[in-house]
Amino acid sequence: MASLRYQQVELWIRQGIQEQRWKAGERLPSIRDLCERFGVSKITVQHAFQRLEAQRLVEARPRSGYFVLEPVQCSPERHKDRCDPPKRVSEPADVTVHNLLLDVMERGAAFDLCPPSNLIAEGAPLIATDALERQTGLTALNRSLGRALRRQQNRHHSYYDQPAGEASLRFQISERYRRRSTVLGVDDICISNGCQHSLFLALMAVCKAGDVVAVETPGFYGVLQLLEQLQIKVVEVPVIPTQGMDIQALEQAVNRWPVRAVIITPAFATPIGALMTDTARRRLMALANEQDLAIIEDDIYAETAMGTMNSAADVELPLPLKALDSEQRVILCGSYSKCLSKDLRLGWVAGGRWHASIVRLKLVSQLASNRSHQQGLADFIEDGGLVRHLKRYRQALREQRDQLLQQLTHWPIADVHVPDGGLAMWIALPESTDTLKLYGEALMSGIVITPGPLFSASGAYRNCLRLSYAHAWTRQRCSRLERLKNLVR
Ligand SMILES: Cc1ncc(COP(=O)(O)O)c(C=O)c1O
Repeated sequence: MASLRYQQVELWIRQGIQEQRWKAGERLPSIRDLCERFGVSKITVQHAFQRLEAQRLVEARPRSGYFVLEPVQCSPERHKDRCDPPKRVSEPADVTVHNLLLDVMERGAAFDLCPPSNLIAEGAPLIATDALERQTGLTALNRSLGRALRRQQNRHHSYYDQPAGEASLRFQISERYRRRSTVLGVDDICISNGCQHSLFLALMAVCKAGDVVAVETPGFYGVLQLLEQLQIKVVEVPVIPTQGMDIQALEQAVNRWPVRAVIITPAFATPIGALMTDTARRRLMALANEQDLAIIEDDIYAETAMGTMNSAADVELPLPLKALDSEQRVILCGSYSKCLSKDLRLGWVAGGRWHASIVRLKLVSQLASNRSHQQGLADFIEDGGLVRHLKRYRQALREQRDQLLQQLTHWPIADVHVPDGGLAMWIALPESTDTLKLYGEALMSGIVITPGPLFSASGAYRNCLRLSYAHAWTRQRCSRLERLKNLVR
């Protein structure tokens, strides 16, 4: 049943196509017409169209609107013409990350526009605990961690954990991947200090200073920081919201420059939240095998897949690229930061053919992980705590995303992609907006934003913003968002 507004619009168009109200090649009603017809915002209609685009039922034509696509049985050549996105790739370049990132992180604000009061200048009190945090399984997680600490034998204090980490946690991680059709043995996994650490280990194992690495653009600032630090050059490959990284553009880059590795988030890449299509995944793996590329897969958001209204409890999670890796060239990185706790600082890396050197690098960079935390987390997962938490969390994320969408109704938005997973939405404001300037103005109102230029090495996306729905829309957050809208205007 289509109960959300975008679902009603989507259903109406889909039925119209099935009943041939509009035939292949015909133009669909304009966004404005649909807004009037359904009494909804532009974003709602755009979201419905984006979903239909992802289902390959419609296509957007620049400045012309949306058109009905022919059914999929078209000839491979025609299909190629239609699917192949524009080719735009930057030259390999050194990376300099904007100083603002440190400021955002110091305010604890990467995913919250009004972070805890002690971190922002204004000092307005924030509601102590989000409803979400009370409802989801975080209390149970704390109990498991506490029990593991209490049970800890004193001798734990006198010895380091083994470099690869606690076998019980590695087993639980391998079990979660088994559900996603990915076979990983306990010995294929190394515990890290979070996904950022996993990415660092992967890059250290595969690249040296001066090498060229391809990344998504817009993309994760943490990766840009690593590339800067390791003096690795970057080629930025555009993300297509409905397909993920533009593989044709990547192909072009690989043919032109000596790309050593690709860092990619196939499921709900931040900041756009794009989900890679199966075709794009297969093309990427074929290219990697052909050109001998290392693939560093950032799988941190896969577990935040929201599913549909009725299936949030039992969501079908996207497969990792690792499931298609016949040559051990995918280094799978992940953590529990986005689906459970950012404070656990526990992640993993399955390094494929580089695994032994990755374990050695873990020893170099961290010596060992905290054993009690790993055991507590493994117990929590084994007891079904993670599955219970995710059921409620996904539901909450979907509601919070839709609430954000609703609140954006009267914003001057030029473009938006509404993701089906991840923690944030990426919005493009009118070209004249400067979100770096907006950062300072918003701060004066106790609002911390993540401006677009943080998500690129080239300083692009000045008119873009990443807005998070990771937290409950308390009255305070709603009013700050309203204030931000006024500043944007
Ligand atoms: C895509 C992506 N990868 C990795 C990380 C870092 O994860 P962790 O907190 O586990 O180090 C983040 C955090 O924002 C992220 O968005």
